[in-house]
Amino acid sequence: MRKGVFITIEGGDGAGKSTLIEKLSNTMLQRGSSIMVTREPGGIPIAEQIRNVILDTGNTKMDARTEALLYAAARRQHLMEKVVPALEHGEFVLCDRFVDSSLAYQGYARGIGMEDVWSINQFAIQDIMPDLTIYIDVSPEEGLARINKAEVREINRLDLEKLSFHEKVREGYMKLLQQFPDRIVLVNGEQSPELVFADVLLAIDQRFAGFYATDVKY
Ligand code: TYD
Repeated sequence: MRKGVFITIEGGDGAGKSTLIEKLSNTMLQRGSSIMVTREPGGIPIAEQIRNVILDTGNTKMDARTEALLYAAARRQHLMEKVVPALEHGEFVLCDRFVDSSLAYQGYARGIGMEDVWSINQFAIQDIMPDLTIYIDVSPEEGLARINKAEVREINRLDLEKLSFHEKVREGYMKLLQQFPDRIVLVNGEQSPELVFADVLLAIDQRFAGFYATDVKY
């Protein structure tokens, strides 16, 4: 049975998720929560191996459906091996990307279709969905500029896509926001990192304050 809380963080490339997740994790720890931070694609050895295949800048021949299946395969393994056990254990699971990334990137931006991508992902996740998803919204121009300045991380195969691809990714996320208004919360990622963090923490506390071991104070 699921006793923990499953939160996913989504956004286009260069949205600043990594820094945000680090801060969130520190705050949760200070509050005495048992927290598990992880990421997709990856998070465990089998999924990290799949990640290397997907993100290898040399794999320019990769077919869009192959890419979608690889993400779904990595997701399945990571979910079973790491996320579900932590949730059963009552932990607060913070995951950098999940199924919404596949719907926005492969389903919408690559043009496979969100419904088809949803169906292969249903096979992989069997209705295990996040309790809350935070979408950090940054314009593709800003996101890519941050990556090019190496403020965020090194460049991978998906970053090499044209600006129009990243614009479509953002449109895909907007569609998901309309489709799942109760689960997904949009946070403006172009504010200062402090304000982004404050908005995200508020969204989490509004839903899960009762989950913490200690009182939540501002
Ligand atoms: P990563 O280096 O983790 O980037 P980020 O810090 O932006 O999360 O690379 C993950 C890349 O994979 C990123 O470009 C988004 C993409 N992706 C998909 O296209 N589909 C997916 O299902 C997932 C999980 C990620």
